[in-house]
Amino acid sequence: MSLKLIKLLSLSVFLTACSSNTYDDVEADTQPLPELVTYQEVQFIFDNACLQCHSNPPQNGAPMSLVSFENVRDAVLTRGLIDRISLPEGESGLMPLGGPRLPQQNIELIAQWLEDGLLEN
Ligand code: HEC
Repeated sequence: MSLKLIKLLSLSVFLTACSSNTYDDVEADTQPLPELVTYQEVQFIFDNACLQCHSNPPQNGAPMSLVSFENVRDAVLTRGLIDRISLPEGESGLMPLGGPRLPQQNIELIAQWLEDGLLEN
């Protein structure tokens, strides 16, 4: 192999590496689409804080169950669920009944679920 050919080959390898680097940079700059919040991401909040009363059948005077996707979606749409969990600590009507208020990040996650269209999955 001539020296010239070796030089030419290594130059082309260099150029290829260079162009694929550039491609990676462009890839990294492209922000991935934000994930939608679905019921899968919020279900644990209801399981932990609400099922003690909003079980199926409901207990302790709770008027409805919050055990399934449909239950929770309907309560958001027709029973003011997000308003009830957003009340200030100690305010009458705050859910979970008797407190403590849910962590703010969980309330915001549920509000985001509504904003994203109350998807199941
Ligand atoms: C200790 C029992 C208890 C827990 C825990 C509890 N609830 Fe309730 N919930 C009740 C009772 C009793 C009522 C009916 C009285 C009222 O509306 O305040 C009620 C009412 C509601 C209502 C209004 C229903 C309507 O038709 O007016 C919503 C919405 C609600 N709860 C959501 C929740 C959510 C969400 C959680 C969990 C974050 C939760 N609750 C936790 C007992 C509870």
